[in-house]
Amino acid sequence: MNDTARFTSWPESLLSLARPEIRSLATYRHAPWDPAYERLHANENPWRNPADTSTAGLNRYPEPHPLALESRLAELYGVPPQCLIAGRGSDEAIDLLVRVFCAAGQDAILQCPPTFGMYAVAAGVQGAAVVDVPLLRDAGYALDLPGIVAAARNTAGSRVKLVFLCAPNNPTGNDVPLAHIEFLLRELEGQAIVVVDEAYVEFSGRESLAARLGEFPHLVILRTLSKAYGLAGVRCGVAIGHPDLVGLLRRAIPPYAIPEPCIEAILAALGPAGMTMADHTQRQLLAMRPAMLTALAAAPTVTKVWPSATNFIMLDSTDPAAIMVKAREVRLLLRDFSSGIRTPGAVRISLGTPEQNARLLRALDAPLPEGFA
Ligand SMILES: Cc1ncc(COP(=O)(O)O)c(C=O)c1O
Repeated sequence: MNDTARFTSWPESLLSLARPEIRSLATYRHAPWDPAYERLHANENPWRNPADTSTAGLNRYPEPHPLALESRLAELYGVPPQCLIAGRGSDEAIDLLVRVFCAAGQDAILQCPPTFGMYAVAAGVQGAAVVDVPLLRDAGYALDLPGIVAAARNTAGSRVKLVFLCAPNNPTGNDVPLAHIEFLLRELEGQAIVVVDEAYVEFSGRESLAARLGEFPHLVILRTLSKAYGLAGVRCGVAIGHPDLVGLLRRAIPPYAIPEPCIEAILAALGPAGMTMADHTQRQLLAMRPAMLTALAAAPTVTKVWPSATNFIMLDSTDPAAIMVKAREVRLLLRDFSSGIRTPGAVRISLGTPEQNARLLRALDAPLPEGFA
């Protein structure tokens, strides 16, 4: 997937999914970027602040579309650079997608609750409708495939422009079989953009769908540095898709979106030492997951522990409030989903360090697995 020549232009059926205002929008003309010259063209201050430890200088705007950063991220995710746009977390990528494709009061996104909350928030901010096709709890929170296809094709209400699939899903923790995603990609071809949010894919044991970009021009993949790479603080995520789609997103992202300290920190963190560390921590989290699943299942009041393809575990309890209180007593915060109609009694627990995991299990009166401190 490094052959740029393989991409033919987007067909009109896909281009026409974008808002007409965005299609005709002229991209903002930022001051030219040429580090070989001294800058008297962007109304910056010529002197550096004494506390400025950056390489490029915080008195200067960062690179408008950070080439070195996007090339590194493209390499990391195995896609051509023109298929990727970096934003402030995948949250920004979600927001860009909704703003580019959904006209207020007219278009809709489709999501499968219980799922990540930002899809609906971004739609709400944009004034787009949200079509819910709930996951099938009795089938292990599987996608309702016929339900999604029928709802996305329904022309009676708002037109569905974006179908968000969270794979693996937050908060339930299960992955989506590739065959189900492929089925939806085929059924919705030319009809909607299918956005597969792979925020947790590094913990799932499967390959990213990024390798399939050439097959599906209406596929968008979201990846983030916030989870598997331990870089939530730099706020960096990407949308990966056909170059024409990326071009549309570039019209809507503000220039200078990624601050200079973040660009420098990310490039340093994705160097050899950082990659070794990320690999090590991913392995450690994965190694602890089965023991945590088993131990939590044996804790009092826990009625079910859902399988996890992520770095978190969702459990059901007859007394979720008590679980929250017991965790707080040992200074641990968990996420309470128990009031959600589709997650009754549920609590979501991120995997922590071995010490944190052991502290939680003790607090919950769960058996300590062998080897846990
Ligand atoms: C499924 C999913 N997508 C996206 C995000 C947002 O990630 P980022 O930190 O890149 O904005 C999260 C964060 O929790 C998430 O769970």
